[in-house]
Amino acid sequence: MAGLPELDVELVRKDFPILDRIVHGDRPLVYLDSAATSQKPRAVLDAEREYYELHNANVHRGIHVLAEEATALYEAARDKVAAFIGAPDRHEVVFTKNSTEALNLVAYAFSNAAAFGAEAGRFRLAPGDEVVITEMEHHSNLVPWQMLCQRTGATLRWLGLTDDGRLDLSNLDEVVNPRTKVVSFVHQSNILGTLNPVETIAARAREVGALTVVDGSQSAPHLPVDVAGLGVDFFAFTGHKMCGPTGIGVLWGRRELLEVMPPFLGGGEMIELVTLEGSTYAPPPHRFEAGTPMIAQAVGLGAAVDYLTGLAGGAGMAAVAAHEHALTAYALERLVEVPGLRIIGPAEPVDRGGAISFLLAGKDGRAIHPHDVGQVLDEQGIAVRVGHHCARPVCLRYGVPATTRASFHLYTTTGEIDALVEGLAGVRRFFGA
Ligand code: ALA
Repeated sequence: MAGLPELDVELVRKDFPILDRIVHGDRPLVYLDSAATSQKPRAVLDAEREYYELHNANVHRGIHVLAEEATALYEAARDKVAAFIGAPDRHEVVFTKNSTEALNLVAYAFSNAAAFGAEAGRFRLAPGDEVVITEMEHHSNLVPWQMLCQRTGATLRWLGLTDDGRLDLSNLDEVVNPRTKVVSFVHQSNILGTLNPVETIAARAREVGALTVVDGSQSAPHLPVDVAGLGVDFFAFTGHKMCGPTGIGVLWGRRELLEVMPPFLGGGEMIELVTLEGSTYAPPPHRFEAGTPMIAQAVGLGAAVDYLTGLAGGAGMAAVAAHEHALTAYALERLVEVPGLRIIGPAEPVDRGGAISFLLAGKDGRAIHPHDVGQVLDEQGIAVRVGHHCARPVCLRYGVPATTRASFHLYTTTGEIDALVEGLAGVRRFFGA
């Protein structure tokens, strides 16, 4: 993007101690598994440590100084996350354990609505109602909706995929129809890398009065996200893929929906008034944060947000996205040079992110099993993920048992892509090709 300050990757890498690791004796680590989890900058590690060393206490409960400091830090993390995703209101940010819990929270709210009053009507499901997902969902945005349909008798439907790894929207108006009550779909695919047209799907969902849920696990860590601008109702993502700690995720929801959405987990802190006969519930976000929350992890996530937004002189996520776009274009160009390599997913660097799945053919053109590819790469210090990437329906769609996936982040270099390309040549040699 013209005028955008560039990310200085070598400078960025100095912030991540783990990137200096030498593995298998003398191999510099080439970490190409950031879609599984990102590495953590020193600022995040320090924030968690400092929290425990200086401020540790439970939140929203105590009147002593540490409790007040811990509460202030936890709530400040909520403010940071709200600003990071363009949430119009801080009360719209609910802390969860991860994206999976955020998505389950919404799915359970739908079935819990049966026991709630008229105000929860938008969440009620019955036989005849339909829930729509897509064929490229991670299991975390597939299984909760299958389970919801089992609990309620609603029908699960999905949008299919094109041969080149995009969503097939040719029958969008038929699949998303007046019977549809919720449409839940991934923003950026963890296996194909595809970036989906959120606004188009959300606009159709609005036309038929359905709620929209977006799984942003692979987009929020890599792109500037503006939840209000996307025109969706809920947006889920996780901290550990965006340089934050594990054990912290976020559900953003429009406030008027969260106000009437039934709770998922019951317990302390999510209530207003409790008697043995029954309870009333706190307003959002606390209604959805039962029990002692992930305090240190939220503080760490706040530090990750500060870190990401401060990059490249404040260009922040726009600079991260530009870096990853250039890197993805370079990787696609270099990978096609590898004999016998077939990309599963969009082969052009258009509307796609930096997670690239592929198959590699060996002797006689037969595919080398991705587990073998991964193991030989690992021996060279190159970390990739292999398998179905918790998106098995995608593998079924393309008739492959598994793929090898290389995935990038703000600290990935073109040199590491070159190392991957050389490593893959080594894999082919190893298998006699
Ligand atoms: N969802 C993570 C991945 O795609 C674990 O690898």
